[in-house]
Amino acid sequence: MRTVHSLKELRTILRGYRQQGKTIGLVPTMGNLHDGHISLVRKATEAADVVVTSIFVNPMQFGANEDLDTYPRTLADDQEKLRLAGNTLVFAPTAEEIYPEGLARQTRVVVPEVSEGHCGASRPGHFEGVATVVSMLFNMVQPDFAVFGEKDFQQLAVIRKMARDLLIPVEVIGAPTVREADGLAKSSRNGYLSEEERAIAPTLYRALETTVAELASGRTDFEALETEAQQTLTGAGFRPDYFNIVNSQTLKPATAEDPELTVLAAAFLGTTRLIDNLSVRR
Ligand code: PAJ
Repeated sequence: MRTVHSLKELRTILRGYRQQGKTIGLVPTMGNLHDGHISLVRKATEAADVVVTSIFVNPMQFGANEDLDTYPRTLADDQEKLRLAGNTLVFAPTAEEIYPEGLARQTRVVVPEVSEGHCGASRPGHFEGVATVVSMLFNMVQPDFAVFGEKDFQQLAVIRKMARDLLIPVEVIGAPTVREADGLAKSSRNGYLSEEERAIAPTLYRALETTVAELASGRTDFEALETEAQQTLTGAGFRPDYFNIVNSQTLKPATAEDPELTVLAAAFLGTTRLIDNLSVRR
């Protein structure tokens, strides 16, 4: 397994693979890899001859008061985990390599509608940063397919629409959320939690499970369900950001006729913001 830092080197290596007729899978990450990331890499290695995992803490998708500076950077550990997972190539560029003229001068990709609401409302500019860097990664790597986690449900919807609208010939594949034994979705940000917060954290998943069970039993009083869940979260010590029951395709508020619903949630424990979601067919 190799690690490259420059775009030039990446392109040279990938050209060689393409000439040999090999298929290429891409797994974009911000590093600090855990079992959730590794599950995406394994899915990619099953389907492609060559798997490129990118590790880039993308400054464009962080807000001014967010954790860009403190975000964990653990390249050596990440490389070891990727080697064990059968990854082929790590692309770990610097910010200068990706944005040579700086963020202010960078062309950006705006994805309407699915970017709005939920995390898009709480984190202005976040999905613009995600769509921009992922479209650039698609152009840099030119993979046959790319794997993303359903853990970031809205992000996956944004990337699918971006690829479709910009006619980027990459198949976007979603992969299920990997969880801790107590249900907490694996996340690089879980490392920010104190012991006490970590004990409370699975309540977010339990609130999603409770809501999904109520939806499966036929309840359609969506706002009441959202309020009940927010009260559960507040009672457990969270500061809920949003708890929204939506149509799984459009991410618009649920209606009684929708065949598949997704419950999207974000909540703070102290200064740590956790997100999670669960879907249900009816
Ligand atoms: P990051 O948070 O590092 O996540 C990289 C990929 O891993 C995303 O597709 C995310 O959905 C997936 N992932 C994270 N936790 C997971 C879990 N518990 N189970 C399954 N998959 C999980 O998401 C980003 O980085 C960035 O926004 C990025 C797409 C790389 C653009 O900068």
